[in-house]
Amino acid sequence: LCCGINTESLPFQCVLTGKWINDLGSTMTIGPVNGDGNFGGSYHTAVSATSNKIQVSPLQGSQHPTKQNSQPTFGFSVKWSFSDSFTVFTGQCFVDENGNEVLKTMWLLRSDVDKIQDDWKATRVGINVFTRLHSQE
Ligand code: BTN
Repeated sequence: LCCGINTESLPFQCVLTGKWINDLGSTMTIGPVNGDGNFGGSYHTAVSATSNKIQVSPLQGSQHPTKQNSQPTFGFSVKWSFSDSFTVFTGQCFVDENGNEVLKTMWLLRSDVDKIQDDWKATRVGINVFTRLHSQE
């Protein structure tokens, strides 16, 4: 059988829990989503705006209920443990045309600056696309 989509393997819902990798090579693990839609996890960034040694950092987030939407919107923040920066991500968990789950996100990275005159250059913005890592399930 060539090139078709196996519709039987299409996940009904896009589920945030699990391990993900993004277009930069950063990985994250999202834990169970509780009844209020809240979750915790850990983030291992592949890159940094600082010269500090990268360390795995905690994340905390929340999603809208999957009862109402099989492709939930979500947000999470990463409190970097190796720098004084913070990143917030927001996005949506989609099932793409091949049946693969994908997280389409945008982020804001707030860096620490020494003085208010430098505030203008303290925030970066970008997008990241995450796909599920099946290696260590
Ligand atoms: C820092 O540089 O102070 C902390 C690390 C920031 C990593 C950023 S967050 C947005 C982007 N996506 C990633 O996976 N890593 C970078």
